[in-house]
Amino acid sequence: MAYNLLKGKRGIISGALDENSIAWKVAEKAHEEGATFVLTNAPIAMRMGEINKLAEATGSQIIPADATSVEDLENLFTKSQEILGGKVDFVLHSIGMSVNIRKKIPYTESNYEFFQKGIDVSALSFHKMLAVAKKLDAINEWGSVVALTYMAAQRTYPFYTDMADIKAMLESIARSFGYHYGVDKKVRINTVSQSPTKTTAGSGIKGFGDFFDYANAIAPLGNATAEDCANYCITLFSDLTKMVTMQNLFHDGGYSTTGVSSEVLSKFGIE
Ligand code: NAI
Repeated sequence: MAYNLLKGKRGIISGALDENSIAWKVAEKAHEEGATFVLTNAPIAMRMGEINKLAEATGSQIIPADATSVEDLENLFTKSQEILGGKVDFVLHSIGMSVNIRKKIPYTESNYEFFQKGIDVSALSFHKMLAVAKKLDAINEWGSVVALTYMAAQRTYPFYTDMADIKAMLESIARSFGYHYGVDKKVRINTVSQSPTKTTAGSGIKGFGDFFDYANAIAPLGNATAEDCANYCITLFSDLTKMVTMQNLFHDGGYSTTGVSSEVLSKFGIE
């Protein structure tokens, strides 16, 4: 059921790789809620061609941009305003990649070149997006920017390796930039800390399947799906959350504040 929450709003949605991507669901929901938007992803991801289906289904245009390139991002924000007919109201940063994770390198033996690549792609890209948007004055007052993160930024999950540190940086950028952009232009910046979700990025993590089940057994409401996450992002893009900024918002079925659940205890024979 749609509520017209984004009627008349314009946006930029990054990170839709295939139909499992969280960004894919956000695009579908944003379309249902009346928004117009541009889709963007790394030029390499375009080769898979999946994104064309989403563009067709949502009446959107695609602008390739490597999120580590300021030049690409300048082009993205400039062209998006031309295509959409004005400044944007919302931006989704849904970009994450760790070469150390991909290559299954243990945290204590991290390769620093890969580590820096991870920082550049998954955290600094957020700063670059915001800096470009601010410089070009591309976001309307009360506009809303959301980036996706994971709770390993607060608590240790050994398998999440360097992405834990990278997500901590991403969340910090939301607070730091949120201050400046809020004061200057009333633009809001938040991170959503999502449950483990079966996507390309998620499933690349060692032992992801078991961990997914574990988190599901801890969370009183169970794991939040990509679709649930999209719904939450839509509320953050809407005017209903106008005074929410510089927050890291847990979207995890109650996982982050549950110590242990009866379901998990029962696996140890504890009633
Ligand atoms: P996904 O693999 O579908 O999306 C990741 C996206 O990042 C892809 O579309 C990829 O092409 C894009 N990307 C990679 N390098 C890029 C670059 N240089 N420039 C532009 N785009 C680039 O996976 P998912 O899970 O939808 O990931 C989206 C976000 O959600 C990520 O930030 C991820 O860390 C976060 N997240 C995912 C969770 C999960 O369990 N899947 C849990 C919590 C957060």
